[in-house]
Amino acid sequence: MTDKFISIEGIARRYPKAGGGDTTIFENLWLSMARGEFVCVIGHSGCGKTTVLNILAGLDAPSEGAVIVDNQAIAGPSLDRAVIFQSHALLPWRTVLGNVAYAVASKHRRWSAAQINAHAQRFIDVVGLTGAEHKRPAELSGGMKQRVGIARALSIEPKIMLMDEPFSALDALTRGTLQDEVRRICLETGQTVFMITHDVDEAIYLADKVVLMTNGPGAVIAEIVDNPLPKTRARADVHKHPLYYAVRNHIIDFLVARSKSFDKGAAYDPRNVPVVRPGAAPADVSPFVPADAGTQSNTDRASGPGFPLARERTG
Ligand SMILES: Nc1ncnc2c1ncn2[C@@H]1O[C@H](COP(=O)(O)OP(=O)(O)OP(=O)(O)O)[C@@H](O)[C@H]1O
Ligand SMILES: [Mg+2]
Repeated sequence: MTDKFISIEGIARRYPKAGGGDTTIFENLWLSMARGEFVCVIGHSGCGKTTVLNILAGLDAPSEGAVIVDNQAIAGPSLDRAVIFQSHALLPWRTVLGNVAYAVASKHRRWSAAQINAHAQRFIDVVGLTGAEHKRPAELSGGMKQRVGIARALSIEPKIMLMDEPFSALDALTRGTLQDEVRRICLETGQTVFMITHDVDEAIYLADKVVLMTNGPGAVIAEIVDNPLPKTRARADVHKHPLYYAVRNHIIDFLVARSKSFDKGAAYDPRNVPVVRPGAAPADVSPFVPADAGTQSNTDRASGPGFPLARERTG
């Protein structure tokens, strides 16, 4: 069942220390993602999330290990992988339309200027910037700049969307609207998404899986939370799901306590980290429990023996 569209295979990132030797930011990261999957990564500041995303983008290289996308090792940036950066990286001398059109033109080299502009305009409209096409980045608010970055990434209709806290600079209303838009577009286009966020509710609303990273140095993936929400979900109903608060509390518990004290222990296998389904008791016959969870305990590994959730939550 595991279509490994993206396969992160044992990557580490180390930087030389001033006095000699290396600092290990993270190590032994293994993660595979299926086509069309929406994965959110959560972890404290400095654990290496952006570094992992840059490696997926081909903008940085791992010190060890490799990333395979569609059976090919990543060797540099590609128009198949669009990045929405933590800080909006816009060309300051170009207008909103110019910034988005620049990306469209790099993907569709044979298109006429009219085609390029029409396509760019579509995505400017999607992110709610209609009317601001001719403004330059200096004339835009932080949230508007971020929306240009989102429009630019969406406009090249990539196979993989890499998003680094794309909504963090936005006011709550705009954030909600854009989360809905990005989710809709990603679902409609079968986009595979790797997104970093610090917002637990955002992760639960958007993700199929939430990857929990421990604090650095030497960060690892502690576990993967399998989101029990159905793929088709409405923002207004998300918190009414019977397992919503179990999932939310589990992730918050991790951030507050276990991300610091995580003990790899003898049972920890970085190639096969625990996949947890918080709150889903083994006997739970809730219609929301994923079909493949029926005969398994509430926590299992991608393959291999069950692993009791209680131990995870109290450890
Ligand atoms: N060029 C560099 N040389 C040395 N250390 C670096 C370099 N670039 C990044 N780091 C370190 O790598 C670690 C991970 O950085 P990264 O930006 O990936 O963290 P992050 O998890 O995205 O944090 P945040 O949530 O604050 O964005 C940090 O401790 C940072 O200081
Ligand atoms: Mg970061």
